[in-house]
Amino acid sequence: ASSSPDDPTRFDFPEIPRGVDATHHVAPGYSAQVLIRWGDPLLPGAPPFDPQRPSAAAQRRQFGYNNDFIGYIPLPLGSSNSEHGLLCVNHEYTNTGLMFPGLADAEDPAAALTRAMVDTELAAHGGSVVEIHKVGGQWRLVPDSRFNRRIDALTTPIRIAGPAAGHPRLRTRADPTGSRVIGTLNNCAGGITPWGTYLMAEENFHLYFAGSLDEHPEQRNYARCGMPAPRYAWAEHHRRFDLNAEPNEANRFGWIVEMDPFDPDAPPVKRTALGRFKHEGAECIVNGDGRLVIYSGDDQRFEYLYKFVTEGTVTPLPEPPADPTGQTFAGRIDAAGQVHFREQDMHRRIAEARAANRDLLDSGTLYVARLDADGGVQWLPLVHGQGPLTAENGFNAQADVLIETRRAATLLGATPMDRPEDVEPNPVTGKVYVSLTNNKHRGKDGYADIDAANPRAENLWGQVLELTPTDGDHAADTARWDLLVRAGDPTDPAVGAHWNPATTEHGWFACPDNCAVDPAGRLWIATDQGGGWPVTSGGADGVYALETEGPGRGTARAFFRVPVGAEMCGPRFTPDGRTLFVAVQHPAADGTEAYPGFERSSTFEYPATRWPDFADGIPPRPSVVAITRDDGGEIGG
Ligand code: FEO
Ligand code: CA
Ligand code: CA
Ligand code: CA
Repeated sequence: ASSSPDDPTRFDFPEIPRGVDATHHVAPGYSAQVLIRWGDPLLPGAPPFDPQRPSAAAQRRQFGYNNDFIGYIPLPLGSSNSEHGLLCVNHEYTNTGLMFPGLADAEDPAAALTRAMVDTELAAHGGSVVEIHKVGGQWRLVPDSRFNRRIDALTTPIRIAGPAAGHPRLRTRADPTGSRVIGTLNNCAGGITPWGTYLMAEENFHLYFAGSLDEHPEQRNYARCGMPAPRYAWAEHHRRFDLNAEPNEANRFGWIVEMDPFDPDAPPVKRTALGRFKHEGAECIVNGDGRLVIYSGDDQRFEYLYKFVTEGTVTPLPEPPADPTGQTFAGRIDAAGQVHFREQDMHRRIAEARAANRDLLDSGTLYVARLDADGGVQWLPLVHGQGPLTAENGFNAQADVLIETRRAATLLGATPMDRPEDVEPNPVTGKVYVSLTNNKHRGKDGYADIDAANPRAENLWGQVLELTPTDGDHAADTARWDLLVRAGDPTDPAVGAHWNPATTEHGWFACPDNCAVDPAGRLWIATDQGGGWPVTSGGADGVYALETEGPGRGTARAFFRVPVGAEMCGPRFTPDGRTLFVAVQHPAADGTEAYPGFERSSTFEYPATRWPDFADGIPPRPSVVAITRDDGGEIGG
């Protein structure tokens, strides 16, 4: 279906206009419900949100800050229930000046930060698991769910596993074994495994560490990660964030973390086999041969695109038995959230499958991509002892290759990309989509020149890359690449954008970031222009449908947009395609100086909006939004 006879896409919704204001907008015919906000009580005993009195103890039991990745795991596990499930939400980072009262007026905001504020920030990082239920067409939180969980950076013990676990470069005074770390940081996009675990991707971990790299044992490694460039005052209160006091702590971040919502007593696990870099995303696909393939971007200018292929194969979860009542799941959930399976041995069969997959991510091969001018992709294995990855170059074991993944990838000749963000395999078509968000330094003096896959100098707008694995094999060491779109304003020749001409003045976007594939196999892109939005698109970030097939290929359509200063994250569809969850990150933060609607109160500085509460004394709050179609149909038509 199309919204007009000459619309060549498979999408059927009226576009929203390009623009920016204090609130969110969704396409006509759809409703957007704020589901959960920073500070909302999540665990039993959580106090109500009180922004005037920051407290780590409260924050540890409340929904965290800056929701980025959203995963949805149907309940019961293994079903495709689209009305009851677990939301898994990454809390990437905190915006100190927007969280706490009084800082805006402080002469030195960093010095005004108290230990209580810093600890609240640590407690607001990490992730949340939230049980949700759709009742009468409205999504609701399940109160006091036994699944609700907070992972934070202040208190959550996390196990380190895989080839780098226990390595001397991961040992600290607090953890002489190199196998246990407190917390996870800067979790951006992520993934959900086929066995119902939640993958959190540690991205800009360098921002938390302060100190000097002069004569530091990890000088080369840490400099490559952009350290020191502290954005936070944490090192003043927690010695482990001081690079000189605890020289190995920063090697314990930058990993993929696997968290099991169905085993609340088990600590999450940092899976070192997937390498250490600024991981953006960890979307999975089961390959034809049963192995799991996980794609991940390394989000920094001129960094690389990666995939991990497990050595073993995935043990699938058992299919829930057919349900004679016509329900979409094979069990009953009581008021306490307890699942009662109809089949006696269902629990046992699920447990067996989960146990078989438990350590699947600890063995496998990490690859980095070289994109050739002829459209070919070579996936280069990062294996100790192969090619230049030897002791001669400082790699004494696979652990060294994984700890310094970037340096190893450079030695292999990987292609420096325009900031790889989310990478999304499409299970319907077998293709893979890569958001390359932008790269303002491309082609400048002293930086890498343009190449075929990164074709614009001083690229402020980004592009979406399409990969076609050889013979549909995601584990193959070759693929083909193509550019789906070059983002930015198609009417300005200086931008050099490329879209299907059916794209309207509202439909084109800039700075692709998180993305999702709906159950019909259609691509949706969320954008993150940062403070550059007045230049890159002139409108707020949002969610755009992007046609990949047929005569409409390369046509984008505007579906949702965020309030001023926010970044668009999530997005995630339920298995029936009837709900789209999106995450509104840091409202009021980015580029608000260009926005005239400045507000100010006596307790917080509100640069532009106090979305979504718009209440005095309440700051803007990052929140997850559930979008449904008013007629109950599939999102996008
Ligand atoms: Fe957290 Fe790469 O965006
Ligand atoms: Ca991102
Ligand atoms: Ca995604
Ligand atoms: Ca981004």
